[in-house]
Order: sequence, then structure tokens, then C-alpha cells
Amino acid sequence: MCGIVGYLGKNDAHPNIIAGLKKLEYRGYDSSGLAVLNGSLNIYKMSGKVEDLCNYLQSQSLCGQIGIGHTRWATHGEPNDINAHPHTTRRKDLALIHNGIIENYKELKEKLEAKGHSFDSETDSEVIVHLIEDIQDTYSCSLEKAVQMVSKKLEGAFAIIVISQQEPGKLVAAKRNSPLVIGVDDGEFFLASDKLAFPRRFKKAIFMEDNDIVTCKQNGDLILSDWTGKLKAPIIQELGDHIINDYEKGEYEHFMLKEIEEQPQVIKNCLQGRIDVNYLEPKLRGIYENEVKFLQASKMTIVACGTSWHAGIVGKYLIEKLAKLNVEVDYASEFRYRDPIINSSDIVVAISQSGETADTLAALKMAKEAGAFTYGVCNVEGSAISRMTDAGSYTCAGAEIGVASTKAFISQICVLGVMAIQLGLLKRKITREEAREYLQEISQLPGLIEKTLKSKGDIQKIAQKYFSASDFLYLGRGVNFPIALEGALKLKEISYIHAEGYAAAEMKHGPIALIDENMPVVVVANQESYKDKIFSSVKETKARKGKIISIVKESDTLISSESDDVIKVPNCSDFLAPFISVIPLQILSYYIALLRGCNVDQPRNLAKSVTVE
Ligand code: AGP
Ligand code: GLU
Repeated sequence: MCGIVGYLGKNDAHPNIIAGLKKLEYRGYDSSGLAVLNGSLNIYKMSGKVEDLCNYLQSQSLCGQIGIGHTRWATHGEPNDINAHPHTTRRKDLALIHNGIIENYKELKEKLEAKGHSFDSETDSEVIVHLIEDIQDTYSCSLEKAVQMVSKKLEGAFAIIVISQQEPGKLVAAKRNSPLVIGVDDGEFFLASDKLAFPRRFKKAIFMEDNDIVTCKQNGDLILSDWTGKLKAPIIQELGDHIINDYEKGEYEHFMLKEIEEQPQVIKNCLQGRIDVNYLEPKLRGIYENEVKFLQASKMTIVACGTSWHAGIVGKYLIEKLAKLNVEVDYASEFRYRDPIINSSDIVVAISQSGETADTLAALKMAKEAGAFTYGVCNVEGSAISRMTDAGSYTCAGAEIGVASTKAFISQICVLGVMAIQLGLLKRKITREEAREYLQEISQLPGLIEKTLKSKGDIQKIAQKYFSASDFLYLGRGVNFPIALEGALKLKEISYIHAEGYAAAEMKHGPIALIDENMPVVVVANQESYKDKIFSSVKETKARKGKIISIVKESDTLISSESDDVIKVPNCSDFLAPFISVIPLQILSYYIALLRGCNVDQPRNLAKSVTVE
């Protein structure tokens, strides 16, 4: 997954690169490195966080106005100093950084070894820099020509930036299936995997397309071509200010807590312009501009991964209930490798915070090829998925930096909730009056979540009681079932406690065997429906000495009476239940992780955007 940056301009590259890398650490933090060109090429790289590299560089004098930097999420080879990027060759006059996976690297490496190249690292990336050297040696061509020729030989995913001591005034980059954006500002260029990494002064960007090659020169020239060398006119887009401001942690110790607390505002942003003052009509543009497609659709398939997949299941419950449309939810990674039945009358919805998850992207490509109408529910504007889909709705959550998704999830289910109402009306499965009631309810969410957040202190105390448990079970029914899954995922990813989410009634088909006095069972039970059934699951757990932590409505007495610990959330309708119940689960996992001394924003082995398979 990695984050890559490149700088060329009138200022020193080093501080700009370090600042950019810090903002890209959400993409990977196994190792980091940079190379700066100033007559000669200086490369510094090491395992560990960008902060470690930054501390080390304080003792180095590092001038130079051209440089590249990398923060790694290892795919090929351990996260050690040697495998860290930038990579170079024996002559040490070229430096390259790479985000992605080169699938044919073994065969390329063997050919290069036969020609006398020797390799230092175990990475697939190192092969690219050797190939560039080999091509330049063979054809005596420019760096950009060599990059162009090399990209034809590479299979898989790559965004690369390369600099050369032999061709000092330039920086060359190429991409396929991995993101790369070029920030432009008055004679300066800043290339990055994500526009978030840009220094504040950069307000314009070019989003590179697959197979694009770009050369940025110190005289201010930017030359964009495709991989055949055909020149392309760059499309420069204006960037909004909000992109940059979202990056501040402010008074918070962690992005995760900040992002949890931003959720009321996120819902407001997400609903803005989509619900009118009289609650008469939901207005997701992607739907009203394509009404015929949605009216004729026989099936909707949602493809997503991780938390976004959980949001998809919430969407299924809501859309099937309100719009009576058959909705299937598939892991994108499964969908793309089985033989899914996709018809041209189907709608395939891709849900993705980053909009660049490799499996989701590939599933979407398949759906497009099969002729389905594709719809994106993405957070990152201009991301690959949002550009590839026929229509879509942005979730407007702002930049989410914590690796554990919180505000992006609430914004995804908010869009899906509005979508369910809009489709219900369109398909005449709900009346205008019913739609109005649902819209009124959903617009109360910011206040209700605000109120829910007030239980933070109580939840912290519960975390104190259970943080040393080694396993957790999460149970929910109906639309709270995906919330149980999400609660379990949140806990495992940031606290490294084994946790499983189950549909409550499934417990007796297996997981009940796990229950004993050491097993905390989180019961998500703030709905009116199935209350008695959930109560039976609680009783069954208690009979086996399990510890019940329940999420219930303020008015509840039944489930609370049998719980060891109770988290009361504001009363709300069943339609709103999942929006509210997920909040305490996020907070619980946050405090448990904190008490276990875990790195909440950057959990081990993970990265925010999974741009590799
Ligand atoms: C969420 O907490 C996870 N870090 C992860 O499951 C994430 O939701 C998943 O990788 C999908 O990412 P996307 O939404 O950017 O596609
Ligand atoms: N494959 C490269 C490595 O292992 C880059 C990894 C990535 O982009 O995720 O270093």
C-alpha cells in the first residue's frame, strides 16, 4: 500500500517530503526513506516510522530541491532497512520509490541477474530500478523514455517516482492501478499517493490516469504522455481547502477519537443538500439522474471490503425493507474470483472509504464489463472508484486518518439510509408520508449521536474492567447484526484482542461453546424488534456464566436487568438503531486499545488503503 511523495521546486525538498510522508503514514508505516538530489544522490532509509527517519536526518545536512520519499507497507520482504525504499542499483545514481506489487518481478529479476545485475533487497520494487538502468544502458535513452519502456514490461500495480544523478533537473513518474496525484504551484511540483500529503500552498492538482508517464522539470515544465509516448494535455483541477484542514489532530491525542467525535457533523455534511427543509424528498443526485436504471433493476449487488462491507449489510437490510429491492452483499475479493451472475439490468454498488481498494476496484471492473450499471459510495473525491462508476454519492466524511474506520462508516450507512428512502419512494413501496417520517428521523441523528457520545466516561470505565480479556463475542440481530460484526472488527484491529461478531441466534450453533466466566459478550440490543429473542440469547449466555455488556435504549429494563454492564443510548426508532449502536462500540474499542498500550491510529500490520490484493 505504501505512501509515496516526490518534490521538485525552489525550496528544500527534505522538509516537504518528511511533512508529506507523515500525512501518508496511514497508508503504511513499516519503514520509510528518502532520496535527495543535489549534484550527488543521497539516500536515507530505515525500518520504523517516519518520525524515526526524521530524528535521524536531524544530524545530516540535506540540501537539494529535488527529492522522493516513501513510507512502506511491506508486501515483498520483511520490513527491514534493506527492503525500505528508495531502491537503487550498484552505481547508486538512480533512486526509485514504488507503491504496488509487480506480479512478474521474479521472471524480470532472473533475466536481469543473467545480465549481471545483483540485488540487495527482497522486494519486487528493486527490479524496476534495475530495469530502468538496463534500458538506459542498452538504448542510451532519457529517463522518461526508459520509464516508458519499463512500464510496458511491468505486470501488476505500480505508482513509481524516479530521479537520476545523470539527469538532475527532473523527476519522472508513472502509474498503473495505484494512485498518484501531481500538485502544481508556481514552479513547484509535489507528487503524492494522496492529495492529503500536499503542503497547504498547493491548491491545484492533476490526477494521473493509468499508464500515464509524467516528467516534471526544474524550469517549471510538466510533460504528460501515455505509455506509447503520445503527449496528453494535463487536466488541472482546483482543490478545496477542507481537504487540507481535515488533517489536523487538534486537541485530540488520536485521530480515531477525533473522528468518532466528528460524527454528528459528518452526518450533517452528508445530509446537506440531500434532504429539503420540509423533508419531502431525498435527493441523491446519482439516483434521480438515473431513475430508469433503478426502476428497472432486478437486483442490487454491493461489493466492498472490511468496514465498508459491514456498511453494505446495513444497506441491504434498509434497502430491502424500504424499497423491496433484492440486495446481495459480497466481499469484493470473493465476487471477483467466483463466477458471479451479473446481468445488464443489475446495479452494482461499490462502497469504499478510500475509493482505491484493489479488490473493490477489480470487482467493479468485472461488473462494468458484464454491462451492469455501477454506483460508487466513496469518501475520497476523485478516487479511482468514484471515477470509474457510472454514478454515485460521496459520503462527505472528510479525510479519515485513523486506520480504524469510524466516521466513514457512519457516513456510508447514512448515504445508504437516504438511498433506501429514495428508492422506496421511487418504487412506490413507501408513501410520501412514510418517506417524510424516515427523513425526519434521519435528520435527528446528529443530536442523538451527540447525546450518545456523552457516555464516553461510562464506557471508559467498562473498558477498564474488560481490557485484559483475551476474547470477546459480539451479538446482534437484524440490522444490528452487521453492527456486531463492525464492533468485533474495531476491537481486533486496534487492540489485538480476538473478537467475533455473530447473528445472535447463531450463537447456539457453535460459539456458545466458547462461553465461560472469562468471556465478555457484547449484546447490541437497542431495537424494539426481536427484543425478546435477544433476551433469550442473553439468558443463554448468563446460564453459562458469560459476562454481558449490553447496548440498550434509555427506556430498557428487560435486557439491562440481566447485564453485568449496561451502556444506555438514546431512544430511537429501529431504523436509526444501527447509527446509534455503533458509536459505543467504537468508543469501547478505542479505550480498550488505549489501556493495552496499542497504537490506536496505526495498528500493527495494517494500512488504511489496501491497494494490493
Ligand atoms: C476498517 O476499520 C478497516 N481498516 C478496513 O476494514 C477497511 O474498511 C477496508 O480496508 C476497506 O477500505 P475502503 O473502505 O477504503 O475500501
Ligand atoms: N511491493 C513493494 C514492497 O514490498 C511496495 C509495497 C506496497 O506498495 O504496498 O516494498
